[in-house]
Amino acid sequence: MKILVTYFSQTGNTKQIAEAIHETLSTREETDISSVRSIEFEKLDDYDLLFVGAPCHDSDLAPPVKGFLEKLPNSPRFKLVGFFTHSTYMPERDERAKQLYDQWAGRCHLSFENTCSAKNINFLGYFHCEGKAIAPIENFIHQEIITDEDEWNEYLPELRKHPDANDIENAKKYALGILDKL
Ligand SMILES: Cc1cc2nc3c(=O)[nH]c(=O)nc-3n(C[C@H](O)[C@H](O)[C@H](O)COP(=O)(O)O)c2cc1C
Repeated sequence: MKILVTYFSQTGNTKQIAEAIHETLSTREETDISSVRSIEFEKLDDYDLLFVGAPCHDSDLAPPVKGFLEKLPNSPRFKLVGFFTHSTYMPERDERAKQLYDQWAGRCHLSFENTCSAKNINFLGYFHCEGKAIAPIENFIHQEIITDEDEWNEYLPELRKHPDANDIENAKKYALGILDKL
């Protein structure tokens, strides 16, 4: 099997996840890694499996990845797995976390699902985790999303740790789990 891990990362979080996935998949299969910006679309036919990664921007996948997905061919031979990092909570935490996640990151997985469904691409699922935000985004979150000071003081130091060793481990496990299911 031949695998491609391709991603966009503005500040390095998604790149860290991409590199972890690449590292772990390389122990089992021939695996390439490349930025979405340097993909040659005619070469995608060489792959059986694509892992496509993005940061969440404006509640959705960042534009370079949306653009990449739009350019994918219909009914390709490869299957696709998504991954993304975001600065809202993980939705499993509690009801509030789920609500904020749905509102501020909830379109990410839908973009993968909808593109794959429209293009008849076999979509195998997605991995996601939190990623620290640059200062202007932290300010935006503080002003618009997590405005309560107590909650903010708990949230921010926690967010700044991600992606952490656990996220990296989970990403690797998720990627290997995909191989096991194929
Ligand atoms: C322009 C911009 C918009 C963002 N919008 C969101 C958002 O809507 N929801 C969210 O959870 N995180 C948002 N973030 C935070 C990023 O998703 C998060 O920091 C991510 O881990 C960055 O990944 P990267 O380091 O690979 O670029 C935004 C970041 C930027 C720069």
